[in-house]
Amino acid sequence: MPDRIFNFSPGPGTMPPEVLAQAARDIVNYQDRGMGIIEMSHRSKDFMAITAEAEQLLRELMDIPNNYKVLFLQGGASTQFAMVPMNLLGPGKKACYLNTGVWAKKAIKEAKLFGDIDVAYSSEADVYNHLPAEGDYQVDPAAEYLYFVSNNTIYGTQFHSFPAAQVPLVCDMSSDILSRPFDIRPFGVVFAGAQKNMGPAGVTTVIIREDLLDRAPENLPTMFKYRTHADNGSMFNTPPCFAIYTVGLVLKWIKKLGGLAAMERINREKAALLYDAIDRLDFYRGHARTECRSMMNVPFNLPTPELEAKFIEEATARGLDGLKGHRSVGGCRASIYNAFPREGVEKLVELMEEFARKNG
Ligand SMILES: Cc1ncc(COP(=O)(O)O)c(C=O)c1O
Repeated sequence: MPDRIFNFSPGPGTMPPEVLAQAARDIVNYQDRGMGIIEMSHRSKDFMAITAEAEQLLRELMDIPNNYKVLFLQGGASTQFAMVPMNLLGPGKKACYLNTGVWAKKAIKEAKLFGDIDVAYSSEADVYNHLPAEGDYQVDPAAEYLYFVSNNTIYGTQFHSFPAAQVPLVCDMSSDILSRPFDIRPFGVVFAGAQKNMGPAGVTTVIIREDLLDRAPENLPTMFKYRTHADNGSMFNTPPCFAIYTVGLVLKWIKKLGGLAAMERINREKAALLYDAIDRLDFYRGHARTECRSMMNVPFNLPTPELEAKFIEEATARGLDGLKGHRSVGGCRASIYNAFPREGVEKLVELMEEFARKNG
């Protein structure tokens, strides 16, 4: 492996080096077959085995019961903003949404095309710096589902306990899937674009409870029906082969580390180092309220935009890349996904200490 910088990018995000090394070998020649992984038919025995293994590993790591289907789709998480209401809503049907960030708001816009949408909570007026607590909103029992985003990538907020509702939960877990264990049984649908915690961009994992597969209206185009993909093992059309294969490698890497409980412990330790520096140094200000801080994305500001620009410049010079915050929050954002090494967080904290001493 060449020397690597520390990549704090919000996504596509940093990957485990051993996964990259394996993928680099297999893209040229997969298991001595004399051809690379992206040249193989998706219906070949080899590739069918790769997909089956990725699904099996995901089921094992996330403890997914048999009455859920695992789908590997294309179109990014953004396509799911529409596919969920296309399949689960229709005339006269309603759903409840929590507006906790840009990605939730985009999903609300799509859902309104297909049903009656109740936005039961919004933190938009506070630049999405917090999440609702239990009791801050009501869910209509007639709703088909309650939709929320478990981790708000831009604002650095994360649900530490999931909403309790009588209706199925639907969750966009794009930026924190596989970062911690959770009980999937209250969920009707969980989806995630792979490019943060699962692998490369190009595949979106959808986990859907079987009884929800047949709610789609008859006139929905074939490719947009979950049933189509469920009945064809995600092979109705050519799937994103390389992305699925790489997700499999990432899942093996997580299993080797000790699974999601171990992943959570590692993530908690990394995030604690960073939040401790923000709280201790009286120079940096975290965007998210303390009680809903994310383990994955840590947006923070410095006293002035000029200092922020200088900080990012010094960070880049030290090989700490991708720290510029999203334009809606400004400042910095450290994305420290599963594969982000602890050493990189330690280096960032070192810089934060030095920079505050010199410029504070
Ligand atoms: C929480 C969340 N949902 C959805 C998206 C959009 O994903 P995609 O680009 O795969 O459509 C992102 C992208 O960063 C995200 O962070």
